[in-house]
Amino acid sequence: MRVFAWSDLHADFPRNRERIAAASAGHDHLDDALLVAGDVSDNMDTLARTLEGLRARFAEVFFVPGNHEAWLRRGGFADSQEKLDRIEALCGEIGVRTRPARLGNGRGAAVWIVPLASWYQKPEHGPDSLYVEKATEDAAQSMWADDLFVRWPDGDAGAAAERLLLGNEDHLARAYDAPVVSFSHFLPRREVMFRAPEEAAANLHRQPDRHPAFNFSRVAGSLGIERQLRTLGSSVHVYGHQHRNRDRVLEGVRYVSHCLGYPGEGAAEDALRPKLVYEC
Ligand SMILES: [Fe+2]
Ligand SMILES: [Fe+2]
Repeated sequence: MRVFAWSDLHADFPRNRERIAAASAGHDHLDDALLVAGDVSDNMDTLARTLEGLRARFAEVFFVPGNHEAWLRRGGFADSQEKLDRIEALCGEIGVRTRPARLGNGRGAAVWIVPLASWYQKPEHGPDSLYVEKATEDAAQSMWADDLFVRWPDGDAGAAAERLLLGNEDHLARAYDAPVVSFSHFLPRREVMFRAPEEAAANLHRQPDRHPAFNFSRVAGSLGIERQLRTLGSSVHVYGHQHRNRDRVLEGVRYVSHCLGYPGEGAAEDALRPKLVYEC
């Protein structure tokens, strides 16, 4: 059993739809699992079509929503939680998994896949925020679209972040009898926002800062995700959101980000196909 990871497919872009179709064409992955770590589309039809297309080509597809799935630009949803609930139901209808599952290789070995729902904590939400200071930032952050398109039932994004993590508690309480590969859309810890020291020293994977006034760390993720993956005892944790592709081991856990991202970004060229993250 091979487990592949991919995220931030942003299938609203025709170029990305071509890339997704090309990457998963044929019969290469009919025995494989794919983890899709959020940000496929805010459009329900595009989301459904993309996940269905992947489902037809992989033995198993797992999904957690990203911030783009919570956008309310269309569709008549009362709030973002209602939309996320509808997406969970959609996944059930098309055979895409959103809950933990044990995948066996048919010869006795197995791996558990554990999706972790999440949202980011802004610095004003509390100490689990991944915020780090950035000298060039404009705190007004007028370019962050979530502030326009996401609406929570109680109006409080900090409470939504806690509520979504709380929804994972059942997964933490159970016993896992095989290695665990977990995944979330948002980042679990600050270090993974940045290139590893050896990559920085060798000047590898450097992408220009196109938005010096924007401080991504305000909306990057939550330390609550890190606590949950440590409770699970994850061997590998896959995440997305930043459109910076990373693969590094920190305190015994391999953290992998493999984002298709937006056309024209460096991330897209790095991640034209899903990445193998586990095999048993
Ligand atoms: Fe994204
Ligand atoms: Fe995102």
